[in-house]
Amino acid sequence: MTALRPVTVITGASAGIGVALAREFSRHGHELALVARRRDRLEALADEIAATGQPRPLVIVADLMQAGAAGAIGDALRAAGAEPRYVVNNAGFGLVGIAATLDRAEQLQMIDLNMRALTELSLAFVDAMARQRGGLLNVGSIAGFLPGPGSAVYYASKAYVLSFTEALHGELRARGVKVTVLCPGPVPTEFAARAGVKGELAPGRLTQTAERVAAAGYRGLMRGKRLVVPGLANKIVLLAARVLPRRIVLRLVGSRQSKRRAAQAQAA
Ligand SMILES: NC(=O)c1ccc[n+]([C@@H]2O[C@H](COP(=O)([O-])OP(=O)(O)OC[C@H]3O[C@@H](n4cnc5c(N)ncnc54)[C@H](OP(=O)(O)O)[C@@H]3O)[C@@H](O)[C@H]2O)c1
Repeated sequence: MTALRPVTVITGASAGIGVALAREFSRHGHELALVARRRDRLEALADEIAATGQPRPLVIVADLMQAGAAGAIGDALRAAGAEPRYVVNNAGFGLVGIAATLDRAEQLQMIDLNMRALTELSLAFVDAMARQRGGLLNVGSIAGFLPGPGSAVYYASKAYVLSFTEALHGELRARGVKVTVLCPGPVPTEFAARAGVKGELAPGRLTQTAERVAAAGYRGLMRGKRLVVPGLANKIVLLAARVLPRRIVLRLVGSRQSKRRAAQAQAA
């Protein structure tokens, strides 16, 4: 049997942080497999990377909200003679608004993408990652440390990503697989528009570029860190979330979200 070529699989590589992660891994010599729904974006990024002299990434068009997506990704990799050395679960989206009034089906789709697909892809390729002495990078959020009135399902989905990935970090260490959860604060991408936010996601001093976030995630994964929170201001938020009573954190997040809703309603 011929050995399969190691690749880094990056989900959500058609926009935002995923594009920056793809460029970062490629810059460090990884061959990539790019996953998302928008083929034209993935092909353009694959061309851009090929033009730098790196191998042209594999393009895998998949809707991760559909059951069976991980199997289809595995099949596409095997057909190309490849297997994952690193898996980067970055695809995800958020919604802002009151959970009881937001579209319920859409909130359940968020759970499918942010939690179910991430879990499936984290577990589906453990043997390959162990064989290749590779690792897993899951993109959580600073929101994962906070309860999130005004974006309840999104914050809860990222709390799941944080808890699950931190637990896997310990479980997979014995198999030589590095596992890191990357928890950025706000990053200017298509995320805010998809979430239904007009204007800034949060105060500017918390904001970091996708490139900085991707570089921090890459470095942390290669160093075998369990948790990466890019930027000093976001580390302070994390510290505050750990020391303040939960009811105060709930009040602070809720009031920030309701001020944003009021400003948005006034501007509309
Ligand atoms: N931006 C922020 O402020 C921020 C902060 C903290 C954490 N994060 C997290 O960072 C990750 C990336 O977000 P981003 O800011 O880069 O958002 P983005 O610019 O909206 O990009 C989201 C990516 O996910 C992909 N995606 C969405 N639905 C998908 C589906 N059903 N199947 C496959 N791919 C899908 C999109 O590709 P297609 O539409 O082509 O499928 C796109 O490539 C998310 O997990 C997000 O929660 C973002």
